[in-house]
Amino acid sequence: MELDLNMLRPQERLSLRLRLLYEEAGFRQYRMGRFEEYGLYQQNRRFLASDQVITFTDLDGRLLALKPDVTLSIAKNAQFEEGGCGRFYYSENVYRPSQESHTFQEISQMGLECIGAVDDGITAQAVSLAGKSLALTGRDFVLEASHMGFVAGLLDAVGAPEAARPRLLSCIRDRNLHELRSAAEEAGLSRQGTDALCRLDALAGDWEAVLAQAEPIALNAGMGAALAELRTLCAALEAQGQSLRLDLSLVNDMEYYNGLVLQGYVAGLPRAVLKGGRYDPLAEQFRPGAKAVGFALYLDELERLSEAAPPEGEKTMLNIALPKGRLGDKVYNLLAGVGCGCPEDYNESRKLVVENREAGIRYFLVKPSDVAIYVEHGAADAGIVGKDILAESGADVYELLDTGLGKCRMCVAGPEDFTDDPGRTLRVATKFVNIAKAYYAAQGRDIDIIKLNGSIELAPLLGLSDVIVDIVETGTTLRENHLKVLTEFMPISARFVANRAGFQFKRREIETLLAKLTEVTGA
Ligand code: PRP
Repeated sequence: MELDLNMLRPQERLSLRLRLLYEEAGFRQYRMGRFEEYGLYQQNRRFLASDQVITFTDLDGRLLALKPDVTLSIAKNAQFEEGGCGRFYYSENVYRPSQESHTFQEISQMGLECIGAVDDGITAQAVSLAGKSLALTGRDFVLEASHMGFVAGLLDAVGAPEAARPRLLSCIRDRNLHELRSAAEEAGLSRQGTDALCRLDALAGDWEAVLAQAEPIALNAGMGAALAELRTLCAALEAQGQSLRLDLSLVNDMEYYNGLVLQGYVAGLPRAVLKGGRYDPLAEQFRPGAKAVGFALYLDELERLSEAAPPEGEKTMLNIALPKGRLGDKVYNLLAGVGCGCPEDYNESRKLVVENREAGIRYFLVKPSDVAIYVEHGAADAGIVGKDILAESGADVYELLDTGLGKCRMCVAGPEDFTDDPGRTLRVATKFVNIAKAYYAAQGRDIDIIKLNGSIELAPLLGLSDVIVDIVETGTTLRENHLKVLTEFMPISARFVANRAGFQFKRREIETLLAKLTEVTGA
């Protein structure tokens, strides 16, 4: 009897093809048990995506964990020849907390790890297999790379203080140039230093062009060595007929990755489906001097691909989530002013989708608090959202522009005669629970949060809370209720945001719109 592969689900077919690809390339399958000693994760917490791990006590009293990660186990347990390089692939489920559902998720991963004497040839083979893995999905894909040494060297060269680096890196990662500028200035960086960090954003595209732009501005040996490594890798791949896109603003966890970093996207999926890179610090925990490179593919994400490939030759439409209401109208007028208006007035109907096919733009009219969700999940490619909502949601999106519309401030406010008693837990009423928690956590202040949905100013008047954390625009609401601003801590305005994967596949459209908006807002 012949085995009919069409019986299999697309994800099963893909994982068989991936196995074949890795076996043929000489990789051995690494199988791990369902459980690991919890101690392994406890001792190597800094290498995990999250501190939260499902644990239980085994029948013999040992504390075990449901595996949150495969790489750690391979680095610890894999057997291979002394002085050689172990090359493994795996297909396993891992268990990690999900921010969205507030529960643990079973995530199906396939991946490759090369551990030990990793050289240029092995690195090129791993990256080449990352590209071939994405190609097996049968969809358009983008594989991009960067080198953590370049950005680390740049931070050294511009004299970025250690304490300021996480914030600078997060702005670079979010393509958030407006906040990168202010964070760099606050960190005491010179004008040239700030400009050099902001230039990273433009160092993306075809490898030869990016390296030609980056090499003359390498400011120290670390940056130069990182570019030389990327050049060797890209040339080796090109010799095999594969081309690698570089994006030097691609940064990943510096604790984990110490060199090359990789990210892969597949058209139609909202987030990266492949992540990887060079992770020597983890390998060295178990084998002194060992190096390591690898990647993981998130098969669950790929499962969401519909069976049918999208029709070819259709006009590319840019889908924008627009907040309904006052801010939305201002934003829409801004967009209409740059030639992106629609023939029909959405305020005249109850329609939630309006478009201008000629301009290639479509708007979804959503609740302001939902804009970031639509964009993060890829239901919209881009959107315009208040910084208050964006910060509160923690949505993982690019923040491309501060439009300057809808300006206000996030404040702590309280009764006119308020005096703080640091000996007592402060009761804080707010709509912005995460923002308030982060603000007080940074000060080491204990608080009780009272979550409200509106008319926050009433809470201190009725003794429900001591203070509020809320947005203040004109200050009228506070004044008329005998409250005053105690501290202002976050400037708010409407931001133009984009989905990370959407940005890869509709880059030209998003960048064109971004350029127009930048021009009219004078940002
Ligand atoms: C916001 C905010 C303040 C008010 C501040 O409320 O929560 O109450 O605006 O504006 P002002 O400084 O100009 O007075 P919103 O109008 O969104 O209504 P809400 O009370 O339902 O949140």
